[in-house]
Amino acid sequence: MNSHLYFLSIIGLSFLTIGEMTSVSLIKSNILHLFANGVPEVTVSKDHHLKLLNKGKLAETDHALVWKGTYDNKAVACKLFCDKKYMDEEMKIFKALNATKNLDKEPHEIPRIFYHGPILGKYHAIAMTLFDGTLLDRYVKQDEKLSDFSILLIFKQAVEALEFLHSNKVLHNDIKPENIFLRGSEVFFSDFHLSTLNGYQKRPCSPMFGSASYYAGFDRDPMDDFESLLYSIWYIGNVPMGRVYGRDIPEGRILLGLDEQEAISRMVEKSKHFKDKNVQKAFRFTNMQIISGKSKPDYKEIIKKLTEAIAEVSKTTGQERFEWLTF
Ligand SMILES: Nc1ncnc2c1ncn2[C@@H]1O[C@H](COP(=O)(O)OP(=O)(O)OP(=O)(O)O)[C@@H](O)[C@H]1O
Ligand SMILES: [Mg+2]
Repeated sequence: MNSHLYFLSIIGLSFLTIGEMTSVSLIKSNILHLFANGVPEVTVSKDHHLKLLNKGKLAETDHALVWKGTYDNKAVACKLFCDKKYMDEEMKIFKALNATKNLDKEPHEIPRIFYHGPILGKYHAIAMTLFDGTLLDRYVKQDEKLSDFSILLIFKQAVEALEFLHSNKVLHNDIKPENIFLRGSEVFFSDFHLSTLNGYQKRPCSPMFGSASYYAGFDRDPMDDFESLLYSIWYIGNVPMGRVYGRDIPEGRILLGLDEQEAISRMVEKSKHFKDKNVQKAFRFTNMQIISGKSKPDYKEIIKKLTEAIAEVSKTTGQERFEWLTF
């Protein structure tokens, strides 16, 4: 585990209550018990053909268990909660984003929701599009080296997704490589459990990717989501992140302590990490956004700059798709 992730998991762990830890593991033992007793699959009800698959565990987090399943024979990821409150909170956001409609496709870089409701009698579940995995998984699988082309393409699609979220008055509030998902050549956001609607309410977020406003204790706005996205992209691009006395310090916290000139120099310095001049140029533009004082990023111009840089990089390297895709 690299030092950032170690730091994150320590912080995350300190927020857990014993009750939450045991309740998620209870769901897991309940499911394992059912499978161990020869029940080949768990059907939710006769109206909803949702099944959990044997050995289908995808992840276990502090408040949910994520399990592979099928819904009417379509592969899904099923997020199971002990507490209905968590399901309702996340569903409020999914509904605001129309994720329960147009079940055949994901037009806007978020998962489709096939089912939400009770499961196994006492639990609650959201069954959604199954992705190949998270951006963090992919970064690790690629030995922490992604091409400039892939970094830019992920960034561009994530900005498009962000524009969609914000145009529906949703703030994600927890953008980080673990909450960005990939499927083939497409990029998605999920995990809306800290998201908010119609306003700029304060919510916690993952400390490593938190914005300067988060550290200042201010309410959040769309630029804060963009700032967390930018830090996530720096992270997968191996841009050196904040360290003081050998310890990881979140970029947002560092930015908060800088004056205007220092902030500008830091943003320029970060862009210079990339060797290719076209990539540098694009990052100089995106980095400056977070110190522009605006409440919303300039989505259109960012997408334009990233599209131009992708075309240039593609011209020099010949790369046209993510390096891990074979067709
Ligand atoms: N649709 C999906 N397809 C594939 N894997 C998924 C999907 N949804 C979630 N996962 C896996 O489950 C993990 C946890 O899911 P999610 O981020 O939604 O839950 P969480 O409990 O809110 O997580 P966090 O620890 O970020 O608070 C993801 O990081 C990913 O590994
Ligand atoms: Mg998550």
